[in-house]
Amino acid sequence: MEKKSKQINQNKMEKLVALLKRRGFIFPSSDIYGGIQAAYDYGPLGVELKNNIKRAWWKRFVQSKLDMVGLDAAIIMHPKVWEASGHVKNFTDPLVDCKKCKKRFRADHLLPANAKSPGYDKEKPFFVSDYQCPDCGGELTEVRQFNLMFQTFMGPLQEDAAKVYLRPETAGGIFVNFKNVVDSMRLRVPFGIGQIGKAFRNEITVENFIFRTREFEQMEVEYFVHPREWEKYFNEWLEIMKGWCKFLGIKDSNLHLQEIPESERAFYSQRTIDFEYDYPFGRKELYGLAYRTDYDLKQHQKFSGQSLEYTDPLTKEKYIPHIIEPSLGVDRSVLVVLLEAYTEIIGGRTTTTEATKELEVVLSLPYELAPVKIAILPLAKKESLVVMAKKIAQDLGNNYAVQYDETGSIGRRYRRQDEIGTPYCLTIDFDTITDQAVTVRDRDSMQQERVAIKDLDNFFKLKFN
Ligand code: GAP
Repeated sequence: MEKKSKQINQNKMEKLVALLKRRGFIFPSSDIYGGIQAAYDYGPLGVELKNNIKRAWWKRFVQSKLDMVGLDAAIIMHPKVWEASGHVKNFTDPLVDCKKCKKRFRADHLLPANAKSPGYDKEKPFFVSDYQCPDCGGELTEVRQFNLMFQTFMGPLQEDAAKVYLRPETAGGIFVNFKNVVDSMRLRVPFGIGQIGKAFRNEITVENFIFRTREFEQMEVEYFVHPREWEKYFNEWLEIMKGWCKFLGIKDSNLHLQEIPESERAFYSQRTIDFEYDYPFGRKELYGLAYRTDYDLKQHQKFSGQSLEYTDPLTKEKYIPHIIEPSLGVDRSVLVVLLEAYTEIIGGRTTTTEATKELEVVLSLPYELAPVKIAILPLAKKESLVVMAKKIAQDLGNNYAVQYDETGSIGRRYRRQDEIGTPYCLTIDFDTITDQAVTVRDRDSMQQERVAIKDLDNFFKLKFN
């Protein structure tokens, strides 16, 4: 039974990955050169979906909140930032090599799912003599710590003095701008700074499509609070994150909140709740919410020599604010949205056209996230219809992402739009010339209704708001 469900899940991942390539969502990076391990490019529809997710996050987590502001910091920062944050010393994963086949593994990934409690030590997850190479059965080396930061050199000289890092998390750019934001924005604690951007980690193992890659994007909030109030705001952000998961279409049954024990928490965290998701390849982390205490600001104060003490403008109390951090991966958001939306209908949903007799795929994406909102389909390639259809596409295109498609049977065109998650298809037929109305088809119910061209704007306003 378990074997069968594993098989179905593996098939689901394979089918989804194939669909995403076929329909222009996600391609292997450098594809014509055979690809590069675990790097992906977002294609024309993928970039729309990803941008819609980022836009929705920005709106919900930053713009719509009076106590939030945004930031876009540089990826390459002063190397001292990562000494202060502890990443140079501590941002490591435990690594083992197979002495026989020379493959490298993340030691904690070799443990069975329930082997981490109690007394688990993430520096030394196990006695190597108890484990063998999962690929060839060879003997493993002792566990050693491998730093995940990508290094490069700034300027023409490749010497230690020019060594810099690609940021391993977007958070660093926020901490070092705390003073700039306080001084320029007249904000009073509690307030937060949100940022979306790329992060880089030289992961020992990369896996499962866009789940774990070495270059990825994060959407992070650093929320600054009075130390007495951290629990209140931790709980507030927990609820906001739960609401976000609902908005993405994640079913409650697929989401699991995991209190992370001290032995497994990141070095800076005093409390962490992981949002875990039931991916087809197992239950794994989606997002994290952490209470980082005053660790970051204190460290940056120490290493920069600049005071990061905050003075409350009303009470005049001086203190270093504590930080609550909701940290969300963009790529994992894309993956779960697609997994939740992917629906197969065996035998098709209608029998009216040949195209729908086979297995049919519908991406039931939330409207706000769908890369194309409305497809404009002239029933035939006749000039009278094409001209009207293009005019409608032009007009609606001012407000919505539209796609114009005149190739293939109408059934095939509906299916193509269902597969990419387009909420509405609009068909221009021969009656349109006389009655100045079009047929609008709903992706999920497949209900069709006749709408006058002059009413389309209002019609879609109601549907999409
Ligand atoms: N500032 C805190 C921080 O970076 P994290 O748990 O290491 O915490 C936050 O990362 C989120 O970033 C994760 O929950 C995940 O969504 C995403 N993430 C982390 N590593 C990733 C990787 N290698 N590939 C894709 N996403 C990743």
